Order: sequence, then structure tokens, then C-alpha cells
Amino acid sequence: MANLKTTYLGLELKNPVIVGASNLVADLNNLIKLEEAGAAAVVYKSLFEEQIHLENFELGEQLTQYDDRHAEMTSLFPNMEHAGPEYHVLQVKKAKEALSIPLIASLNAVYDLSWPEYAEALANAGVDALELNFFSQVTDPSLSADEILKQQLEILKEIKKVVKIPVSVKLSPFYTNILQAVHQFTEAGASGFVLFNRFFEPSIDIETEKHHFPWNLSSPADKGLALRYAGLLHGEISADICASNGIHSGNDVIEMILAGANTVQVVSTLYKNKIQYLATILSDLDSWMDKKGYANLCDFRAKLSRKNVKDPFAFKRAQYIDILWNSEKIFNKYKPV
Ligand SMILES: Cc1cc2nc3c(=O)[nH]c(=O)nc-3n(C[C@H](O)[C@H](O)[C@H](O)COP(=O)(O)O)c2cc1C
Repeated sequence: MANLKTTYLGLELKNPVIVGASNLVADLNNLIKLEEAGAAAVVYKSLFEEQIHLENFELGEQLTQYDDRHAEMTSLFPNMEHAGPEYHVLQVKKAKEALSIPLIASLNAVYDLSWPEYAEALANAGVDALELNFFSQVTDPSLSADEILKQQLEILKEIKKVVKIPVSVKLSPFYTNILQAVHQFTEAGASGFVLFNRFFEPSIDIETEKHHFPWNLSSPADKGLALRYAGLLHGEISADICASNGIHSGNDVIEMILAGANTVQVVSTLYKNKIQYLATILSDLDSWMDKKGYANLCDFRAKLSRKNVKDPFAFKRAQYIDILWNSEKIFNKYKPV
């Protein structure tokens, strides 16, 4: 039996697999099952300020005006109870009391002033760390990339002034230079990064000619970006790296640690394969380590990071060139015509 212990955001974890924010963790029974299945920590579903405001709208003109947005939030988070931040904070407190593993709260606010206010409320609920969910899809063409980053950095700095617990940032992959953004967030006090958030994109129903919001779980094919940036960032920043999006199996976890991640977050695989599958992920990791003769995660962590790979092009143009060279082979394999 290998030693799977690791640290993340200064927290001692019994293994590297954290359950990411979702509706799954909003149920106390599920939380207990997740802990029993071996979860190292849990991120509670986000406190969405937008949801709170929508809930506060009275029926009438305002609500109709925001119908689309409301539909999006409620279909993404269908079981979310309808109440204010106090209710959410209370649920977080109950979750904390039910668990013996660390609980990380997640926050997605809208207004600059709300971020530190809600962060403080969540910290006071007794959580072990706070994850900032910078979920924003830009619709304003006059806003520059710099302005968006600057605003997020300010939010982080304001939050760091009011909370003592470690703060991580769950990043979108849509930064012009993710590496530079990560460096700036680290300087502003981020203790860790979740790479990456998954956006829910609406589809269009061509019969009703309306938007709809399909249940959009990830697949293992989605893990490429996290793998790449875990590899690029390892050894470059003092903050921890938590890989996320498309991690479905023990093998996926191993890949992320080989690239340089400290921990991973899983959500979709638990929806698809049920909570108990977490135990399988952990036993697959353990068996692989035994087979390879690794006693600890640090024996192989970042073995394939940019700093440690012999081939300096592995993170640059090599894969691209390889694809170009092998394009005929790929063409023959899939024979599109
Ligand atoms: C039903 C559902 C609810 C989610 N709710 C949240 C949330 O409240 N906050 C958040 O940051 N991410 C949320 N996510 C995104 C997940 O935390 C995660 O980033 C994403 O699903 C990618 O990981 P995966 O490939 O393991 O699913 C949610 C995902 C799902 C499927």
C-alpha cells in the first residue's frame, strides 16, 4: 500500500483526489458517502451571488426581463434551494460539521463589494479554504483582457485582507497568457490554482427556436489543457496546482501528478460512475504506484513537467510537428472519404 498523502493550500490531505464543486456535494448524505469512498477534501458548491439576486426579484417585470439568465442558473443548478447568502452559509456550516476531511468553500460574486463580504461570511462558517470561482463570460467588447485581469486581482487582494484561510483561484482557460495571469494571482496572494473551470454553453433547440442548457458533463478528452498547464507551471510558482476538468479515472490522476499537479478535482466521473467509483480511482492509483515501486506521490510528481522532461520541445511545438508528420497515418486511419 503506497502512501498517498499530500498537501494542498497548506492542508494535509490523505490523498490527492478532491471532489469539486457541484450539486452532488450539496447533500449531506452524499458528503458522508464521498468521505467514506476516500475523498481527500470537498469543495462545496459555489455561492452564486447572481442566484441570490435572482431569487430576490419579485415576480413581475424584472423577472421576465431576466428570464433567460434565470433559466440558465436554475437548469444548471436545479436542486439549489432558493434563499439568500445566509442560507448558503448555513448549509456550508452543516457540511463542515458533517465531515472530518477539509471543506473548501467556493464563491462567485458579481459586485466588487460583495466578493470580500461573502468571502468573510464563508470563512466564518469554519471552512478550511476558499476557492474563488472567476466564472465570467465576457460580452462587453470594450473591456480589455488587462482590465478583466486587473479587476480579478483586485478582488483577490480585497479578499486576502479580510480572510485568514488560504485562498485558491479556479481559472478559466480563456486568458491570453495563462502563465502570466497565474504569476500575478500568486503575487496577489493565491495559494493554489484549479486548472480549469468548465463553462456551460447553451445549445439551440431548432424546433422551439430557443436556447436550452444541456447537462454538460466532461469526458477524459477534456483533460489536455489541465495536463499541459500543470506541466508548464510546476516549479514556476510557490502556489499549488490542482488539475480539473476531464479527470475520470485513476490513470487520469496519475497523468496529472506526473505532469506536476499536487491534487486533482473530480465531478463528472462521479455523476457518471457513482460516488463509490472514487474508491476505484484511489485503488487504481495505489496499485499503479505499487507496480512502479513508488512509495510516495513525490517520487513521481512532475517527472514529466516542463522542467524535468529531457525533450525541451515537448511543451512547445513537438506535438504539433508530430501531428503534421503523421497526418497521412491519421488520415488513413479515419478515412473521411
Ligand atoms: C452539476 C454541476 C454543478 C457544478 N457546480 C459548480 C459550482 O457550483 N461551482 C464551480 O466552481 N463549479 C461547478 N461545477 C464545475 C465542476 O466543479 C468542475 O469544474 C467541472 O465539472 C469540471 O470537472 P469534471 O471534468 O471532473 O466534471 C459544476 C459541475 C456540474 C456538473
